[in-house]
Amino acid sequence: MSVAAASQYLYRDIAIEVRPGVFLPNKTTELLLDAVLARDLGAKAALDLGCGCGVVGSVIRKLSRVGSMQGSDISSVAVANARANASRLGLDIEFREGNLFEPWAGRRFDVIIDDVAAVADPIARLSPWYPPEIVCDAGHDGTINTIRMLDRAGDHLAPGGILFFPTVSLSDEVKILQAARSRFPRVECLLKKSWPFREDFWQRIRENETARGLIDDGIIKVVQRGSRWLWDTSIYLASVAP
Ligand SMILES: C[S@@+](CC[C@H](N)C(=O)[O-])C[C@H]1O[C@@H](n2cnc3c(N)ncnc32)[C@H](O)[C@@H]1O
Repeated sequence: MSVAAASQYLYRDIAIEVRPGVFLPNKTTELLLDAVLARDLGAKAALDLGCGCGVVGSVIRKLSRVGSMQGSDISSVAVANARANASRLGLDIEFREGNLFEPWAGRRFDVIIDDVAAVADPIARLSPWYPPEIVCDAGHDGTINTIRMLDRAGDHLAPGGILFFPTVSLSDEVKILQAARSRFPRVECLLKKSWPFREDFWQRIRENETARGLIDDGIIKVVQRGSRWLWDTSIYLASVAP
């Protein structure tokens, strides 16, 4: 019997181990970290929601002045991986397992960094990011987790608190932004970046009728530049009143 090996992800000089069955950090992770680290979080309590291997919480705990860090994920394998990374890096982070904010009943944070799965299910299953053992379940248009998160985030933000969340053009971003703007007084885009599809991924999308339908219906958005097709990631900041 062969045992799958862990992978390693590097952000700046911080090495994060990613165990089999746990989401491998990608371009969205990188852009989210860049956006969060560009702001001075000060001495605040922060939550890494949808922590996977714990990369976001660990990197931010290590490189920022954040006062405390918690993290959670629906996957027990991910939570164990996140705990192991934080411990190896000597970081004081509390991780819990559970659906969205369920592990944090009654708790409020100054900073929430959301990264729950947000890719349209038919696209996620064709992508290199979501093998069957990794939870996506973001729905046909990729909005379910993010809109549920937006619904509840206000109950877990302290006065003046801020929420970072990514959107990808592989979900219905218009619907997500409408939901964000109807729930928060201020929503701003901090960073946006386009990425070329991996050839094999784009080929699978072209050959899949449901995935093509999502593009034809304008639910997910891809653009052509030269011979390449691209998708994009945006990082948003929503804030509540002080
Ligand atoms: C896009 S990955 C991000 C993981 C990590 N932040 C990274 O960049 O590598 C999304 C994570 O959300 C988790 N997830 C999916 N649905 C969730 C839910 N309802 N509640 C909590 N976590 C969820 C998945 O298990 C996965 O680890």
